[in-house]
Amino acid sequence: MRNQQATQLLFELSRPGRRAHRLGNPGVPGAEDAVAALPRNMIASDPPPLPELAEGDVVRHFVGLSTLNMSVDTHFYPLGSCTMKYNPKRNERIASLPGLVDVHPMQDESQIQGLLEMMFDLQTMLAEISGLPGVSLQPAAGAHGELTALLVAAKYFQSIGSDRKVVLTADSAHGTNPASAQMAGFQTKTVKSNGNGMVDLEDLRAKLDDNTAVFMLTNPNTLGLFDSQIEEINRLVHDAGALIYLDGANMNAILGITRPGDFGADLMHYNPHKTFSGPHGGGGPGAGPICVRDFLSKFLPGPIVTRATDEKDSGSYIYHLESPSEDSIARVRSFFGNTGVLIRAYIYLRTYGDGLRRVSEDAVLSANYLLSKVKHFLDVPHGERCMHEFVASATRLKKEKKMSAMDLAKRILDYGFHAPTVYFPLVVDEAVMVEPTETESKQTLDAFAEALFRITDESGEFVHDAPHTTRISRPDDVSAARHPILRWTDSSSDSSASDSGQ
Ligand SMILES: Cc1ncc(COP(=O)(O)O)c(C=O)c1O
Repeated sequence: MRNQQATQLLFELSRPGRRAHRLGNPGVPGAEDAVAALPRNMIASDPPPLPELAEGDVVRHFVGLSTLNMSVDTHFYPLGSCTMKYNPKRNERIASLPGLVDVHPMQDESQIQGLLEMMFDLQTMLAEISGLPGVSLQPAAGAHGELTALLVAAKYFQSIGSDRKVVLTADSAHGTNPASAQMAGFQTKTVKSNGNGMVDLEDLRAKLDDNTAVFMLTNPNTLGLFDSQIEEINRLVHDAGALIYLDGANMNAILGITRPGDFGADLMHYNPHKTFSGPHGGGGPGAGPICVRDFLSKFLPGPIVTRATDEKDSGSYIYHLESPSEDSIARVRSFFGNTGVLIRAYIYLRTYGDGLRRVSEDAVLSANYLLSKVKHFLDVPHGERCMHEFVASATRLKKEKKMSAMDLAKRILDYGFHAPTVYFPLVVDEAVMVEPTETESKQTLDAFAEALFRITDESGEFVHDAPHTTRISRPDDVSAARHPILRWTDSSSDSSASDSGQ
């Protein structure tokens, strides 16, 4: 049965005089005079009408609200590009051990040797997986990693007396790519995709010149395709004297199979909250470590964890936090990064060890399995085969049944699944982007494909009003104005807003 207290506002649950606790005199000298001691102009003569509630009402209200949401722990979450895989609880438990969470950022190095050893090993593993030896753990998110790496590139060009000003981004790239380039002080130009969803080499050639600093490439790209022209891209960009930045958000597809450093990237970021069991959401704090080629290492932000042989015991090591060098772009984050997230990445990598390749193989297998089912009833413009995700299109459904990508995404909630990403990447009309990840069973994938199939068989009108079974329908929809929780909704709002992905 639904928790009614979750669906009523705290103001509606309020009863005059109801309280959580009535504290007696705390026995602290002067405490009873605390209100009297407040400056007169800070005491409202007419206090705001705050809700008056018992503790139980408040707890039930908020716990109930939390159960109305979908999460990876409660539902299949095929949100393309976001890699919402299930994160092992064991990693959470280990990262919460008191010896790790109670460390103070100002603590002396000698007292945190264990933690520094973990961070050093993590740097080493990230370098090995990427094929790029210079690592900084400082950035606090993927986009922050992009910005940091572009600042490194800018410093590099400055150091060789070059004034290159332009960053090229692919038209299928995540919006953070051009945004990071702008923030790092570059101008941006967009390189088109060709009919196969890969980089249009003609367009790349036309836009590359001696003002190009960096080409930002996502490979596999956001269409779930590995760009088979990578050798040619590598040659063109480097012959033009520019650097290749790899947006590593899609590393889940290639771990242990190929390495960005081996296929031409000079700099890259990881998204540990997608790939290495960092927690998702809430705006962070996350982590977006970056890796760079040797010649760029001296520009990395510090501190970086280094290792030296212990002079007193040649069989063991001492770990140091090395301050940024004078060539460095300096710090981009306080202390040495969000260690809580980095510890989870360390545990994830140590757990899989040599088996890491299997993560990507299974992620690619899951996506292809689902693709092979979905393509029978939804168009997939670029995909006979895919990497870790694929992008279907609802254009035909929209024409034939007035059923948009947004309608599909809303209706799938009624079947007990989180929606796929819709309307991204922008290069596919009515995009429905599905990323199942390696942590889902065949049964879940079958059930999801079956649900999507059933929806495409339903009436467009019925699906347009979905979801029908969730507590809240479309918050920006006219019908929501009738809902008890959403009475504040402006009933004149235009239902078509949801189709534009708002
Ligand atoms: C392809 C791609 N690049 C970059 C990012 C930015 O990463 P973050 O959200 O960690 O800033 C994302 C995030 O979804 C992404 O999917």
